[in-house]
Amino acid sequence: MTNNSTYLRLGVNIDHVATIRNARGGRHPDPLRAAHLAVEAGADGITAHLREDRRHISDSDIARLKSELTRPLNLEMAATPEMVAIALRHVPNACCLVPERREERTTEGGLDVAGQKIALAPVIRDLKSAGIRVSLFIEPDIRAIEAAADLGADIVELHTGAYCEYVAADDAKSTASEVARLAKAATEAANRGLEVHAGHGLTFNTVAALARMPEVVELNIGHFLIGEAIFGGLHAAVRRMRALMDEARFKASGRVIA
Ligand code: PXP
Repeated sequence: MTNNSTYLRLGVNIDHVATIRNARGGRHPDPLRAAHLAVEAGADGITAHLREDRRHISDSDIARLKSELTRPLNLEMAATPEMVAIALRHVPNACCLVPERREERTTEGGLDVAGQKIALAPVIRDLKSAGIRVSLFIEPDIRAIEAAADLGADIVELHTGAYCEYVAADDAKSTASEVARLAKAATEAANRGLEVHAGHGLTFNTVAALARMPEVVELNIGHFLIGEAIFGGLHAAVRRMRALMDEARFKASGRVIA
């Protein structure tokens, strides 16, 4: 881990190791083993989403991650009393508050921070009072950023799902406008004193555009890395992602890439 300002952290989300484990029950593959491997390969932190329906990560995974990890744990969770109680029990380094619907396959959109200020305020206050950094997963939208700053959140994580879908659909025009929207949001958030993270759907092909944004200091990446691990191993997948991030960051800071 480096501390200079251009360094971009990689948080590896290990949810889908648990998805595979849970397909059969039992203990294999173990998300904690994956977390240790990811750290060895260059991850700066580990992210896990404890969902209301426990479809992948379990309560005991969170307890083991918290007690055995050598890097910060970022706990993704809905802003519910049950999850807040769990977070206060384990005190992860950070909690990323996400919207959650049981029927969704993955986190489909950002939090409606502006519309849910009253409900979010006590959750953010309680987590922060316990020394937990609070991140809000949002669309790259100025109203959400303003509301996050007003609520005293430490971090906003910008939802990169739409950008990644445009890339997958070969829609160059929409890709360019979504990258511009993300870049503007990153600047607006940093100007308001918020730490800027980004994630969702990122792949080897899509990571560079985010890594080039100087305000973005952390990327959280899961599904693609776990999928790639099937073909070449988790260590190799994390190392390649890390290298692509560093390369894009380095070139951008040297102004080689506009
Ligand atoms: N960030 C947040 C807030 C998420 O909810 C997720 C998905 O759990 C991710 C990042 C990682 O997304 P992916 O698994 O598509 O890389």
